[in-house]
Amino acid sequence: MNRPIRRTLAALALLAAAVPATAQVTEVYHPPAEAVATAHPLATEAGLEVLAAGGNAFDAAVAVTAALGVVEPYGSGLGGGGFFLLHREGDKLDLLVDARETAPGAATGDMYLDRNGEPIARLSREGPLAAGIPGTAAALQHLSETFGERALADNLAPAIRLADEGFPVNAELSARITAMAHRFSPAAQAVFMPGGEVPASGETLVQKDLAGTLRAMAEDGAEAFYEGAVAEKLQRGVFSDGGIWSLGDLALYRVKERAPARIDYRGYRITTAPLPSAGGVTLEQIFKILEARDWPPSDDTAARHELIEAMRFAYRDRAVYLGDADFVDVPVARITSDDYIADIAGRIGTRATPSESMEVASMQEARAKGRQTTHFSILDRWGNRVSATLSINTWFGSGYMPPGTGVLLNNEMDDFATAPLVPNAYGLVHTEANSIAPHKRPLSSMSPTFVDGPRGVFITGTPGGSRIITMVLLSTLAHMNGLPAELAVTAPRFHHQFLPDVVQFESGALTEPQREKLRERGHKLEEVTRDFGNMQAIHWDLRRGFVDAASDPRGFGRAVVREVPVEAGAGAVGFVELGGASSDAARLASLL
Ligand code: GLY
Repeated sequence: MNRPIRRTLAALALLAAAVPATAQVTEVYHPPAEAVATAHPLATEAGLEVLAAGGNAFDAAVAVTAALGVVEPYGSGLGGGGFFLLHREGDKLDLLVDARETAPGAATGDMYLDRNGEPIARLSREGPLAAGIPGTAAALQHLSETFGERALADNLAPAIRLADEGFPVNAELSARITAMAHRFSPAAQAVFMPGGEVPASGETLVQKDLAGTLRAMAEDGAEAFYEGAVAEKLQRGVFSDGGIWSLGDLALYRVKERAPARIDYRGYRITTAPLPSAGGVTLEQIFKILEARDWPPSDDTAARHELIEAMRFAYRDRAVYLGDADFVDVPVARITSDDYIADIAGRIGTRATPSESMEVASMQEARAKGRQTTHFSILDRWGNRVSATLSINTWFGSGYMPPGTGVLLNNEMDDFATAPLVPNAYGLVHTEANSIAPHKRPLSSMSPTFVDGPRGVFITGTPGGSRIITMVLLSTLAHMNGLPAELAVTAPRFHHQFLPDVVQFESGALTEPQREKLRERGHKLEEVTRDFGNMQAIHWDLRRGFVDAASDPRGFGRAVVREVPVEAGAGAVGFVELGGASSDAARLASLL
């Protein structure tokens, strides 16, 4: 896509959907096609294979999750966790399966501080002390058993094959191994650098130990991972290399089913991750601020400025208030109340609000960054959906692999406030609400999302650390403004997270005159040339009756839409009273 078009799309993503709030959800029938969008073609194939064998979206999610852990080992895997947002069409159930890692039972608030109380950042990012108790293995069993149609073993089969027989390394994996090799434990080195060499693109990578672990799970379920022989190897490795896991921590791990966060915005219903993801609260605050300001104003720079300010204020509250609500009181009702939002909306002026003038101004700054983590979206022929964001945190997580397991462990402990007001790997700062406590879940940004409304169903999400929430916001606005899935994932991005006090923008997102106008309003800008997300999205257009899917061109993934036979009673009638077209339609059209 050429630069001017990309810029135009960025401008389009700024404009709110002014869709009347009259759309009513009625009975939704089956889509005319199924779709799988993931960050790796082989994971997409695994999902399609399971759908073709009669599995539903939840079975396919198990296959995709397990396969991604094999072929994209730097982003997710059995050693990590994540959030699975589910929609079961039969009974309209929306549910979040929270498979976020937990702090080990022996974890303490000062475990990453030196004797002077200063943080030792490396400890929360490298090696077994950085790893939380993984949740992905438990989620695989839970999804298969509770929501799937097929046995766990059948859903794991593609991943076992990929690990056992190997798969061709792509340029991305080869480059990531090269960059992170210095952090690998001996077992990880043996797997990812067979013979001591980084595999070149096209070479086959075999992971026998991981195949063994997956096979043990296929035979004995998640119990094999949390209580069986695998658990013993995991715990023994971690403990002997300086970590603090106990067998009890593994045996205690459970996924949690949670009611998703719901946001209503101008006729659209946004369903996304609740705490311990910051996504739900932060998106709700931003959308409410936009609504309170009757966004967008007619001037494009003002529209962009107000959106950036809404991000700034919401990320300030993320830092101050958010944490695992099972452990701390989070004043969600207060900070999303109309009065509170009106106050923020009223404080947004024509100039940038310096973050240092806001509460918690003494927080240290660090750069936001990241494309780590992974996301996939699935729609099956019955209208079931999965939007899942999974992680081992930074590239290759902790770099630590307990010998004999093939399981690379996360470094998700770094998502806690390892020390108050000290930035984590994404430059995010936190306070007491996100402090470390035994069995607590660290605050996340992962925001798997459904958008339901006049344009039908949009399934979206992305990796990208602290930028996940604003990327989901921009793609949702783009969808609301009529962009097809491909353009919603392609449109250039920008981001503000309170601290550091800078607008990060992707190359192509802002023209030089647009940058200048933002600078005139007091914004500091920083161009980011790479690693700005890897979105996987599906759009089921109910009015026109088609399904569209897109994999982010920033990554190496694949989105496939496959037509399915129309069954009796199937159709595409999902919404009535669509109201008129967006009043911004003419403005949008003039910008194209
Ligand atoms: N580890 C990144 C996140 O959960 O936001």
